[in-house]
Amino acid sequence: MPDALPILEISGLSKSFKTRTGEIPALSNASLTIDKGEFVCLIGASGCGKSTLLRLIGGFETPTAGGVKCGTRSSPGRDQIAAWCSKTTRCSPG
Ligand SMILES: Nc1ncnc2c1ncn2[C@@H]1O[C@H](COP(=O)(O)OP(=O)(O)OP(=O)(O)O)[C@@H](O)[C@H]1O
Ligand SMILES: [Mg+2]
Repeated sequence: MPDALPILEISGLSKSFKTRTGEIPALSNASLTIDKGEFVCLIGASGCGKSTLLRLIGGFETPTAGGVKCGTRSSPGRDQIAAWCSKTTRCSPG
């Protein structure tokens, strides 16, 4: 029997950064559901918001709109993240 809850549910997630020169929309209205056992890759052009999405999932940033749900929790938070691989320690370019 499949698990009733997805392990990660991202809905309408947006993040913009206020800078001296204006507001930068880093991520706009992202929605995604990940079920237990799924292997997910984030692929996209540089600057499309991949790292921002991961930082929001990890609780390192707060969303401008939308939310992240981990099971029944409203946000996974930093203590819930199993692993974090910085771009500087990647093993492939990009
Ligand atoms: N702290 C910040 N302050 C201002 N702008 C930011 C900040 N973090 C990210 N941005 C901007 O938000 C957008 C998305 O950035 P992000 O780092 O999420 O992209 P990315 O898809 O991970 O890019 P890359 O493939 O180059 O790593 C970019 O325009 C970036 O300049
Ligand atoms: Mg990145």
